[in-house]
Amino acid sequence: MEQIPFVRNAWYAAAWSEEIGRELVERWICGIPIVFFRREDGTAAALEGTCPHRQYPLALGRLKGDQIECGYHGITFGCDGACARVPGEQRAPAAMRVRSFPLHERGGLIWLYAGDPGGADPAKITEQWLGKPAWTAVHGTKILEGRAQLLIENLMDLSHEAFLHPETIGNSSVAETPILTEVLPDCVRATRLMKNIAPPALFAKFGVSPRIDRTQIAEFHPPYMVLTRATAASTEPGFPTLNFVVIHCVTPETATRTRYNWAVARDYALDDPAVSEAWQTGSSWIFDQDVAALNAQEARLQRLPADHIELSIPGDAAALAARKVVKQLAALERREAVIS
Ligand code: FES
Ligand SMILES: [Fe+2]
Repeated sequence: MEQIPFVRNAWYAAAWSEEIGRELVERWICGIPIVFFRREDGTAAALEGTCPHRQYPLALGRLKGDQIECGYHGITFGCDGACARVPGEQRAPAAMRVRSFPLHERGGLIWLYAGDPGGADPAKITEQWLGKPAWTAVHGTKILEGRAQLLIENLMDLSHEAFLHPETIGNSSVAETPILTEVLPDCVRATRLMKNIAPPALFAKFGVSPRIDRTQIAEFHPPYMVLTRATAASTEPGFPTLNFVVIHCVTPETATRTRYNWAVARDYALDDPAVSEAWQTGSSWIFDQDVAALNAQEARLQRLPADHIELSIPGDAAALAARKVVKQLAALERREAVIS
């Protein structure tokens, strides 16, 4: 599998709200080190994280009011990235500046626009379940030592659940049921409808009936968001129906390291802490299995020659369509950069 260049003209889930405060926090996004903090009024800010003087990481400096003082020679930058002070000098040179990045905080996530700020329209953020009335969610983060594309393709072909997650959400019905793949204007959608099947172990734990109708819709919203809309409907009265959306925010840090901010949002059992706990623990367990598999895949890709052979099967249609969209966006962005 080839390395696909970053698509920077997009919103990326940078951090959960509780991760950013009055301490400097560094996160890499699309190959760019970025330093995050909250201003004194509580709003989040993000600046390019490398001091332009001698490339010291700004996250190792000090937050003074709403400014960052570099920890090496004390050059200070404001929230807009402009230099506010050079120790021992009367004036701050205009050229001594770092980029500041547009942010949008909503539903407990801080989103960062990594490309040309002119395109930073928050309406383009697809996620809409976190913080939605009558829904509740659990969330977490995993770090993948691998390229983002591996995770996207994992999420767009859920047949792997039968083999990688047999103790929780996978059983043979998942692998044996064909997928309908649709390439739509704004997303790639893979739909799997499983009628009258035995529930996988995690759903059985939630008390569904001995047979269920299970729906799985995996949607890839380019460049790096996957939504899994799922239902598990009991086929007998008196048993619950599980309706949930798994939000997978795939944030490439570098070419071979990816931040995976995930959430499971549901519209049932809103006030039941045991249900929240089961989703929190179960999801974290499942995603650890994915990360371990993808880490092994990346390590293998690193050691194979570049011309290694990759063979695909019909079930890969959605993953391959997602790959094609990312490649097109990356190529378009590079072409625009050359022309402008
Ligand atoms: S490296 Fe930052 S002030 Fe010198
Ligand atoms: Fe998985």
